[in-house]
Amino acid sequence: MYSSEEQRSLVQTTKMYLTKDSPQKNQALEDQVIDLRKLIEFHEYRYYILNSPLISDYEYDQLFKQLEHIEADHPHLLRPDSPTQRVSDDLTSDFPSVAHLTPMLSLANSYNAEDLKDWDEQLKRLWNIPEHVDIEYAVEPKFDGGSIALVFEDDMLTRGATRGNGTLGEEMTNNARVIRSIPLRAAFSDVGLFRVELRGEVVIRKDNFEKINQQRAKDGLSLFANARNTATGGLRMKDPKEVAKRGMEAFVYTLGFAQDKDGTEAINQFKTHYESLDLLHNLGFKVPLDGTERKLCNNISTVIEFCESWEKRREAYPYEVDGMVVKVNDRVLQERAGYTAHHPRWAMAYKFKAKQATSKLLQVTYQVGKVGSITPVAKVEPVQLAGVTVSSVSLHNEDFITSKDLRIGDTVLVERAGDVIPYIVKAMDDVRDGSEEPIVFPVNCPINDTDNPVELVREGGEAAWRCSSCVCGVQDLQKVIFHVSKSAMDIEGLGKSIVERFYDLGLLRNISDVYQLDYDQIRTLEGFGEKSVENLKLSIDKAKHNPIHRLLHSLSIHHLGKKVSKLLSAELDHVLDLAEWSLDDFTCIKDVGPVVAEKVILYFSKPEHIAMLKKMESLGVNLTQTEDDRPKAQVTDGPFVGKTILFTGSLQTMSRKEAQAKAEAAGAKNISAVSSNLNILVVGEKAGSKLRKAETLGTVHIMTEEAFLALL
Ligand code: IVH
Repeated sequence: MYSSEEQRSLVQTTKMYLTKDSPQKNQALEDQVIDLRKLIEFHEYRYYILNSPLISDYEYDQLFKQLEHIEADHPHLLRPDSPTQRVSDDLTSDFPSVAHLTPMLSLANSYNAEDLKDWDEQLKRLWNIPEHVDIEYAVEPKFDGGSIALVFEDDMLTRGATRGNGTLGEEMTNNARVIRSIPLRAAFSDVGLFRVELRGEVVIRKDNFEKINQQRAKDGLSLFANARNTATGGLRMKDPKEVAKRGMEAFVYTLGFAQDKDGTEAINQFKTHYESLDLLHNLGFKVPLDGTERKLCNNISTVIEFCESWEKRREAYPYEVDGMVVKVNDRVLQERAGYTAHHPRWAMAYKFKAKQATSKLLQVTYQVGKVGSITPVAKVEPVQLAGVTVSSVSLHNEDFITSKDLRIGDTVLVERAGDVIPYIVKAMDDVRDGSEEPIVFPVNCPINDTDNPVELVREGGEAAWRCSSCVCGVQDLQKVIFHVSKSAMDIEGLGKSIVERFYDLGLLRNISDVYQLDYDQIRTLEGFGEKSVENLKLSIDKAKHNPIHRLLHSLSIHHLGKKVSKLLSAELDHVLDLAEWSLDDFTCIKDVGPVVAEKVILYFSKPEHIAMLKKMESLGVNLTQTEDDRPKAQVTDGPFVGKTILFTGSLQTMSRKEAQAKAEAAGAKNISAVSSNLNILVVGEKAGSKLRKAETLGTVHIMTEEAFLALL
């Protein structure tokens, strides 16, 4: 449809129109309108047909708004075929077209609290109501799937259709019939309705989507990009049996049209949107649940609060949601607000911060880690993702780059979901112009100067290339950063940037220097008052008494993580005992393998490491096992071993936490709910529903607190 040449030029022009002081904006309006229409059509094609957008929804909206503004100010430029004059089109020729009973419109978008407040004010002006009078809104999730329209006649599901172009949809009744959350019969006649049309969204649960992809990987099939595409693609499959396999679900969010037996409009019997959703819920449809998923809000501030709280729990919600939909609740007011050709004026989407965006891969830099692993990092043109500006994205290792065929200069799709670190999903290889350069992974350590190259090595079974004989000190610095970090010695007040500063000043060269800092010099540094120096001293002193498993983990021994550090420490009286250990001594411990054992042996065979540890000990760092820290031996015998246990009601002789610790020490596992998995329920005073449920189950051993203690 578009040649690569055309696509590249359209991408260029898009950029121009998205920059604030675009030179294009000095062009004749006629030319701008022509450009914008072309751009919008192109980006709609990338989004709807190829499922591979090149710009974010936000950027698309900016183009759309520019065109809308020009057309609104200069109506003579308006054409019936302008993209502003219709809703987006997903019609293909595979399914018969059917006319919707009322047009299926799109939604206007907002992106922040300000946008919502503006809209609220606009509505008040439109209805001529004073500013202090509040409007009631219904707020619900904006499900990210494929829209459908369902027609029921005489209580029977008679038609299912996709949105199509908003006026005509694609008929897919047989596919709708296999979606189990769509009732085939619903008692609309009980409320006097004969023909209704409902609107909803077909979605796939995130966990179900993962399963589908896992199965596809096993079957050697290509993977689906996301749950939305899987749902929209599912709706258009030819074979309903295949549709059924995708386990799609349908949320219903609007009663769009209703007639009684005589063909008279009956939608007005519902005073509010909320009421109509309650009815649909009672008739057996899947609608967003009142109170948690949807909410009735008295004013726009409550709307904003609800939208923002939803954005925070978005990741934990089982379905993909890309925003919220805010709807004027009162139907009379809705009608008074009316519609544009594109959207109702009484509804507004509040879009969550985008998780995905395209950017340009500018260059690759390389970081050296604490054990010498080289991590390639892509520098990309800064993009906003989930509210954060992203300009660096880890590429993990060479295989990652090769498997994704990434090149410098590529347009790349970057994703950052919630608190997850950003990553590159893919390169848009169809908009390459040939100027992209391959990424050449370095052969020598990228930090050392070229006169003195250190070759990188990649050990069998490892993904990372490593610099195994660091001469530049970078690895020592990384080791100190890790040593003081939260998961190692946990030294508060000695964060990464301070370590780097001390390192540059020569105050810190290796781990043992942490315990012999020159505080007199530190006092003279900018930003270090007496108080902060005191605090730093205190937290370093505190760290000296850490249990030895923390110390062992903090040494940055390759492959030695927290868990194995604990396992080894449990067997030690003194850290330096490890210097005497043989391979067998390690591998006879459950969960300790030969790979990590060899690395620990190697570490303790080096005189400089032994000297450093001895020095740390002389500076007060604890290297000796204290009995309190020796992990308790596993209980293998007794009435609680391997049993699940739950405490309920108020306990008299100990806190619930203490009780749980005792149970765990005796080999039991604490769980939180009464189910057939529960073995023992210990009941304190005023035990309630948990006790009743356990009694009904009949499989749970119920005992008093006294009995529990006696058994212990
Ligand atoms: S109301 C006339 N409510 O969002 C009002 N739409 O651009 C039209 N969507 O594809 C829509 N969740 O299918 C509405 N709770 C919700 C929705 C919702 C998802 C979809 C809709 C359409 C898009 C609107």
